[in-house]
Amino acid sequence: MKLKRTHSCGELTLSDREKEVILSGWVHTRRDHGGVIFIDLRDRYGMTQVVFNPNVNSAVHRQAEGLRSEYVISIKGRVEARPQGMRNSKMKTGDIDILVTEFELLNESKVLPFVIEDQTDVSEPVRLKYRYLDLRRPAFQKNFILRHEMAQVIRHYLSKQKFLELETPFLIKSTPEGARDFVVPSRIYPGCFYALPQSPQLFKQLFMVSGFERYFQIVRCFRDEDLRADRQPEFTQVDIEMSFVDQEDVMALVEGLVCEIFQKINHVDIHRPFRRCTYQEAVSRYGVDRPDLRFGLELTDVTSIVKNVSFKVFSAPAERNGKVKAINLGVLGGKLSRKDFDDLEKLAKEWGAKGLAWVKYEQGQWKSPIAKYFSSKEMETLSQKLNLTEAEACIFVSDENPDVVNQVLGNLRIHLGKKFKLSEGKPDQLCWVTDFPMFELDSEENRYVAKHHPFTAPAIGSVSDLDQDPLQVISKGYDLVWNGTEIAGGSIRIHEAPIQSKVFEILKIGSEEAQEKFGFLLEALQFGTPPHGGIAFGFDRLCALFCGVESIREVIAFPKTQKVQCLMTHSPAPLEDRQLKELHLKYVD
Ligand code: AMO
Repeated sequence: MKLKRTHSCGELTLSDREKEVILSGWVHTRRDHGGVIFIDLRDRYGMTQVVFNPNVNSAVHRQAEGLRSEYVISIKGRVEARPQGMRNSKMKTGDIDILVTEFELLNESKVLPFVIEDQTDVSEPVRLKYRYLDLRRPAFQKNFILRHEMAQVIRHYLSKQKFLELETPFLIKSTPEGARDFVVPSRIYPGCFYALPQSPQLFKQLFMVSGFERYFQIVRCFRDEDLRADRQPEFTQVDIEMSFVDQEDVMALVEGLVCEIFQKINHVDIHRPFRRCTYQEAVSRYGVDRPDLRFGLELTDVTSIVKNVSFKVFSAPAERNGKVKAINLGVLGGKLSRKDFDDLEKLAKEWGAKGLAWVKYEQGQWKSPIAKYFSSKEMETLSQKLNLTEAEACIFVSDENPDVVNQVLGNLRIHLGKKFKLSEGKPDQLCWVTDFPMFELDSEENRYVAKHHPFTAPAIGSVSDLDQDPLQVISKGYDLVWNGTEIAGGSIRIHEAPIQSKVFEILKIGSEEAQEKFGFLLEALQFGTPPHGGIAFGFDRLCALFCGVESIREVIAFPKTQKVQCLMTHSPAPLEDRQLKELHLKYVD
């Protein structure tokens, strides 16, 4: 490299006029205006217009004729004010250009499979195949700069609060967090496998046993689960653990951290303390345990009202411990057509409902396929309960399984909130969800499973309290929800071996299995373990929300597709026979 750059492409302004500068970067665009060549030169910091004028240096101008998009060049030249009328006030460098006097070609580029532009309609598979090119897009670069800044803010804040950044191993023994493990075969121990951590949960608890008191780590986690827009098989957590704390202490620390992030990244002050909502309230009012509180459309329970109606779709589940719930969709709902309701029903069925009933209130009357099953008194009572008035509409879901009703209406609420644009322009809503049940019943396997994870402390007085109905036990777990996305989850942990053993027993992890899987934890808990608790943020989700993008793939440099593949490197891929042999593995179809 002959020309050593003096400035970036994002910084020069009128105050630099007459300076001699050297810039390096990629040819973003090239325009030929009657012999004068204009190039937008791009680097990580921005874009600057550079001008090759044949009257200034004809040799350099001739060389510039061969330049194409994405060639890498350095130029030397003088900063000049652009003529009035040619200035671009939207760009920091929009008032100047560089009149080139010297030029160096650093590398050529093949024609790209797509243009480097923020607005692109190129399909995602192509973009993922050429991810390193996709990442050249300025919008992407902004996302990753924000991600970096967010990590710095978090590190700085937690260090100031006396947290130590400590590392935990990646080759571990499986830790149950509810998903499948990715496993790594051992070459040295035939038939034995490591698991990649679903989270550093047990190691961070062991740090508390070791006396570090305050730990954090920005750490990769691995989960073999079905992917959605907000899930990846490898993702990053901001993992935190603290000793001698209760739930309030962890929440206060986290609120401080979140406010700091909002302040430093978005320059806004967030109101503290954050709202709180119990799990019970969240599910009953919003249908889900991660409510988006930016809009209403709350669920109303009408089970007791419809117990005796002649419409069996409502009365039958109501009589059999099921539920019938409704959402008043207001006047926006009143504008929906029959086809719109059919589409909603289709969605409801996809989410597990048997059907969807709807009612429009027009000229003082129910307009609905189900109106004929209701007396006018029943219609009036229901309308009153739902606050249903002129030009409004409501939807109903009934089922013998109350979870289905909540889930379907909860999903429809979110869907309609988006469709009606109810959250647009509304302030961010952060909310703690607390008081989760400790266990839930896995009806397929007919056993209890932990709602958070098995190391979460129950809110009980003594071990024997766990012997009552486990489904009634509340845990000391908490989730942090931002505009309907769960951004963090944590709990106060079990720090006493007898309670941990009892929880394993309820989860049908026999004492032998518990010893085999978690012997090290059960033993550690007997060596003076302090009360402790913590939380983990989904770092990618946090970044996606701050960047205002839908999918966490937009903030992960090299993500996997929905089908868990890397289209660039073609992983996963078969191993060579030699490697399989070394690992004592045989592929059986
Ligand atoms: P949990 O399983 O709730 O808790 O995970 C914490 C946070 O991590 C994010 N997250 C994910 N992000 C992207 N892709 C995924 N597949 C994925 N799975 C989870 C979510 C979630 O809130 N050990 C506990 C934490 C603790 O108790 O301290 C844990 O991992 O934003």
